[in-house]
Formats: sequence, structure tokens, C-alpha cells
Amino acid sequence: MRIISITNQKGGCGKTTTAINLAASLAANNRKVLLIDLDPQAHATSGLNIRSDLSIYNVLSKLTGNKASLSEIIQNWGENFDVAPSSIVLSTLEQELAGEIGRESRLWEVLEDFKAGYDYILIDCPPNLGILTINAIRAAEEIIIPVEASRFSLEGLDQLLGIIGLVRERLNHNVDYRVLVANFDSRLAHSFKLLDKIKTNFQEKLFSNIIHVNVKLKEAQNEGKHIFSYDKYCRGAKDYFSLSREIIMDEDVPAVSFALEKRMRRVLREELPKLSEVTFSVSAPEAKEVFVVGDFNNWKLDHSSRMEAADGGWKKRVNLASGRYRYRFVIDGNWVEDSANPAREINPYGSMDSMIEVFGRKD
Ligand SMILES: Nc1ncnc2c1ncn2[C@@H]1O[C@H](COP(=O)(O)OP(=O)(O)O)[C@@H](O)[C@H]1O
Ligand SMILES: [Mg+2]
Repeated sequence: MRIISITNQKGGCGKTTTAINLAASLAANNRKVLLIDLDPQAHATSGLNIRSDLSIYNVLSKLTGNKASLSEIIQNWGENFDVAPSSIVLSTLEQELAGEIGRESRLWEVLEDFKAGYDYILIDCPPNLGILTINAIRAAEEIIIPVEASRFSLEGLDQLLGIIGLVRERLNHNVDYRVLVANFDSRLAHSFKLLDKIKTNFQEKLFSNIIHVNVKLKEAQNEGKHIFSYDKYCRGAKDYFSLSREIIMDEDVPAVSFALEKRMRRVLREELPKLSEVTFSVSAPEAKEVFVVGDFNNWKLDHSSRMEAADGGWKKRVNLASGRYRYRFVIDGNWVEDSANPAREINPYGSMDSMIEVFGRKD
């Protein structure tokens, strides 16, 4: 069983549309799917025209007088497609859980005990990083982060990735994420530029399939249907079907990659005490984007090497083991050495790399 949360604290980036239509495509591929609506706004519930007195609130709350099990609230939508609805009362759960120990694991506990033979459980998240979203990240092994290529912002994503990292470390929970371009407008040149930027940042973390803007997706949601029951030949239906094939293709992969990741993490943990924190900084007040790349990150220009703007300067903290490293800055695409650092060495291409020596921590 694969548990996938569809998460992004930004509203309107395509979470609910993805949750509904990906669930429907997986079901059409003969996978048994449960869609859990974990948003108090209950858009997935209303987008599938489901009415119900009981909701996921009755499953997660300990205070409700009307306690229910997950199986008791589930509604069947069509072949292979079940839904656990939400309702506005779910918004009170945040406060209700505030003082409780283990509050971030409530949904996980429910799903641990839940053996109903689903191939996939998809969780539609609310547009914030509150306790419900954290429950969804904790319960899932995979996260799909839908982003809009029309107004892509990395800041919000950094925060979300930070939370995923925290859940991984603090709760010792294996969870991986992938980014989905969920609202691509091919009429705008701007969208292609943003898509390039997203590709550079996320590389293999980006789904190869993208979802184009298609008004039928909106219409279907307004009619209380998924796209295959509304117009199965439209572009939106094709896009979500292709996405589901991409997800199905690595059905066997997660088990392997998670085992590998577990081993990696053990190795990392053993290594971590020996790492020292190094802060790279460069002044480039006019620059739009700056990276620090070196042999410690395989000279890779991506999310992990991107520097953060700070008072006209750019900074990046990196944990490094003791040793000598070569590095350079990439300022708006130009590779330059660190002018504030006199230590340099010529590289095989005839230009200079800056050099840094890290001494191990004694602890
Ligand atoms: N690819 C798309 N093409 C056209 N409209 C879309 C697309 N994806 C989402 N929408 C519409 O945009 C609005 C916000 O999408 P939604 O999935 O509800 O976002 P979220 O759940 O992240 O808040 C909805 O009205 C939805 O129908
Ligand atoms: Mg939504």
C-alpha cells in the first residue's frame, strides 16, 4: 500500500484537483484507492458531490461524542474509488490536539490499524502548515507537491521542505517528495522560463508529466465530478492519466529506495558528529540568483547549492567533513571565484577555484 499526501501550504496550486483526478486515474488503472480529505474546507468532498454527517473529524477527534472508525465514514464513489470525507468541524481539531502528546501522529496511528486492502491512499491537505498537514506528512511515505508554473515561489517550498525534513529527523520517518507542475499555461512564454527554473531546482524530484491548464478540470470540480466522468477525452484527463502511469511505474521502487535511504541515513547519522558547519558568503547586491558549488556537492547547480539573500549579500551554510575543498560561486550564471578568499588553485580547465580547508570538530 502506498500512502501519498498532496501537500503545499499555498492555496489554489492544484492540490484538490490532483487528489481527485489522480485518485480517479489510479482507480481506472485497476488500483484500489482511498482518498482522504484532510482539509476542513472539504473541497475534495464537495468536488465529488459527497454529503455525509460523519467525517474524518469523527475518526481523529478524541472529544467528539460521535466517534467513528475510518471504515465507518468511507463512502464509495465508483469502482475502486472510495472517499473519506471532511467537514468544517475538522478545523477545531487543531485546538483540540494542541496540548496532546503524539498529536502529529494521530492519522498515522489510524492508518497503521487500518487494513482494508487499498493499493493507494491519497491525502488532500489544507493550505497551511498546521497540525493537519504535519499529520498527513507523518502518515505518508510519499509527498506530491503541486506547484503552479505561473507563479512559482521557492520561499514557500523551502519552508515545506524544512517541515518534511523535520518530520524525517524528529519522528524518524522515511518520507520522500516529488514536485508536480499542476497548472501549466503553455500560452505564456513566462511559464516555460519558470518550468526551466523548476527543472534546474528539482531535477529528478520533478515528475516528468506536467498538468496543463484546462478549464474542463475546473468545470468538473464545480459539477461534483472527476475529470473522467466529466470529459474523459480532454487534455486534463490525458494529463492526469499519464501522471498515474508515471506513479504506477515505480510501484516496486519505494520499498527498495526506502531501504536504501534508511541505510544511508544510518551512515549519515554516524558521520554527522564529524561534520563542521561552514558558511559561504559573497556580496552581489544586484544578483538574482547565486549558487555555491564545489567538489563537496559535485559542482551541482540545484536547490541544495542555492544561496540565500541576506542584506545585499548571499549566504549558504554547509556541513562539511574535514578536508580541503575547491569551490566557486555562480552569480546569475557566471562562474566566479571567491574574491574575499586569497586561497586559490588552478583547475584542469585553466581557471581558478577557491580553496577552503575544514578542520574536524573535536567533540
Ligand atoms: N490544471 C488546471 N486547469 C484549470 N483549472 C485548474 C487546474 N488545476 C486546478 N484548477 C482550478 O484552480 C482552482 C484551485 O485548484 P485546487 O485544486 O482546488 O487548489 P488547492 O487544493 O491547492 O487549493 C480550482 O478552481 C481548480 O478547479
Ligand atoms: Mg484544496
